Amino acid sequence: MTPADTAIAEAPDPVGAMGHEDYYKVATDSLPGAGLGSYSLPDDVRFVIRKGAGSRLQDVRGRWYIDYVGGAGTLILGHAFPTVVDAIKDQAERGIHFFGTLNEQCIQLAEDLKEIIPCADRVAFTTTGSEATAYAMRTARAATGRSKILKFEGAYHGNHDYSAFSVTPTALSNYPQGRPDTGGLPANMAENVLVSPYNDLDTVRRIVEEHRDDLAAIIVEPLQRIILPDDDFLPGLRKTCDDNDVLLIFDEVVTGFRLALGGAQEYFGVLPDIASYGKIVGGGGPLGCVGGKAEYMDLMNPRNKGQANYSYVNGTLHGNPIAAVAGMATLAELKKPSFYKDLHALADDVCKACQEVLDKNNVPAIATGKASFWQILFMDKPPNNHADVMNSDAAATRALDLAQMHEGLYVLPNVRRFVSGVHTGQDIEDTVRALDAACKKI
Ligand SMILES: Cc1ncc(COP(=O)(O)O)c(C=O)c1O
Repeated sequence: MTPADTAIAEAPDPVGAMGHEDYYKVATDSLPGAGLGSYSLPDDVRFVIRKGAGSRLQDVRGRWYIDYVGGAGTLILGHAFPTVVDAIKDQAERGIHFFGTLNEQCIQLAEDLKEIIPCADRVAFTTTGSEATAYAMRTARAATGRSKILKFEGAYHGNHDYSAFSVTPTALSNYPQGRPDTGGLPANMAENVLVSPYNDLDTVRRIVEEHRDDLAAIIVEPLQRIILPDDDFLPGLRKTCDDNDVLLIFDEVVTGFRLALGGAQEYFGVLPDIASYGKIVGGGGPLGCVGGKAEYMDLMNPRNKGQANYSYVNGTLHGNPIAAVAGMATLAELKKPSFYKDLHALADDVCKACQEVLDKNNVPAIATGKASFWQILFMDKPPNNHADVMNSDAAATRALDLAQMHEGLYVLPNVRRFVSGVHTGQDIEDTVRALDAACKKI
């Protein structure tokens, strides 16, 4: 890590650049809710990003923010990390995209990933993490000939229909029946998605035993949002799957290459049958992948087209060479000996420093986290499942998060935060100052 390399460089405004209000006028007309995806920030904190450098972002008004969103966890090396930028520039000159046959870059990355991902005999590329979880689930259905998938309340697996149950429920689910998160779902979709509370092995076993004839897989975020698995939870899921001939899928879109180089599988020492990845694997570019045991991955072999258990995987941008070289340059940094030790120490320092500020200001909240994940929550101990998160004071959390945005932190209200390998001691000091001012305001 070379924080000095990522020092914030001033650059002239791009030609034709507009001001903050002008951008929002255009965005209001051209984007639903003047937002991107499902995020729409209140008028007084929203901003338009002009550029990122290291651990910080600058908006079009020239204001700088310490970035704890990190491209939704993609940017483990922060913004514009020099070797990643060089790799992208170099590849752009040789070709931005190819299709149909292999390119050198995606083969090199595949070789790297097979070494790194504990459960992977093979990998298959996708464009996004959502696609990777969708293909993992399809492959489990193709392998077993069964349709149902068990997921956990509060877990997010992407934007597709199988994932759109009980992610952000306003009331607890009627297990195993989930609550739809969106309109537009096919009428019979709910029959195929079973929902259990996280960290509750008894409920998982009960649901699996009841539905085993129709159940293809359990999919789990090994560390769900900010919730750590109990020591016996992931091994218990592994055993329940083995006892009932059901596949175990780890959604490592966030945990992959973040908890450890080998992701949650290495960190918690439990192997799934199939795992899905996104974010860090493409170094900030459009790339995801599925990795798993050969017996499942080989169902994706295009030569098996036409067979009942063939699992179709295809996409225009799969194996994109720009994302592949960005991914390889990122992984090269992550392989350096003290990368994870330093990253995790930094996150511990942020949490410790923020907890002191909360306590000093008599704010009844905790700064909780693990590895490079962290969040400030109005509750008295870290959550163990989604019900705990629902019982915390979400309005107070949101108010404090928004107040921190006013003080120059880029965080999303009520959303878990990330530190990157280029956050610094100076960032922690500035974060402490911002949190202290925010605490005094709310
Ligand atoms: C655990 C998890 N799975 C899947 C996804 C979907 O990935 P993408 O947004 O790349 O489609 C996300 C995105 O945040 C995620 O957090």
